[in-house]
Amino acid sequence: MNGDPLFLNKVIGSVLTAGLIAMTAGFIAHFSYHPQMLDQPVYAIGGNAPTTKTVTTSGPAGPEPITGLLASADPAKGEKLFKKCAACHSYAKGGPKKVGPNLWNVVGGARGARDGFKYSGTMKGMSGKWTFADLNTFLYKPKMLVKGTKMNFAGFKKAQDRADVIRFLHPKSDSPVKLP
Ligand code: HEC
Repeated sequence: MNGDPLFLNKVIGSVLTAGLIAMTAGFIAHFSYHPQMLDQPVYAIGGNAPTTKTVTTSGPAGPEPITGLLASADPAKGEKLFKKCAACHSYAKGGPKKVGPNLWNVVGGARGARDGFKYSGTMKGMSGKWTFADLNTFLYKPKMLVKGTKMNFAGFKKAQDRADVIRFLHPKSDSPVKLP
């Protein structure tokens, strides 16, 4: 030791001070943190709790129409967007089926009717031809138009994207239908 008669006292003093600081900090933390109380119970218990919480959905439930966008839609952009489809679809005449059917002549063409493709029951049962409006819904959210479809694609939420990709597919046909 260095001969300081108070050395031990100083050591003990500083240890006690450190402890005191730690305790005080915990004390302050405890009192300054108030758990947030909810105004209302999350789960209404019993029948008389307020239950009327009106759900306000904004906007239409279905896709925005693309009729006004088709004429000026950009097939070159559509070709880029088609990369998302290309994992499952070819579009050239006589192209192979992949996970999904070949898409030659699909705009205005018969629905669920490509030779040699195993469609889902719903898709196979669909008669009629692919209209621009139905393609718009289908590419917005496939299951919205065809319940239980095998097409596992999230959909294009932007109307412009749907218009562009449909414009890209539109001329892939022996006799393209008229644009609306
Ligand atoms: C993960 C694979 C997959 C992706 C990605 C995909 N499709 Fe499909 N698509 C399918 C399958 C599978 C079917 C057949 C659906 C059924 O039988 O229900 C189908 C069906 C279709 C049909 C109807 C064809 C017919 O013969 O009537 C169209 C049109 C179509 N897809 C367009 C597209 C476009 C455009 C995209 C990209 C925006 C796309 N698909 C992305 C798998 C896919």
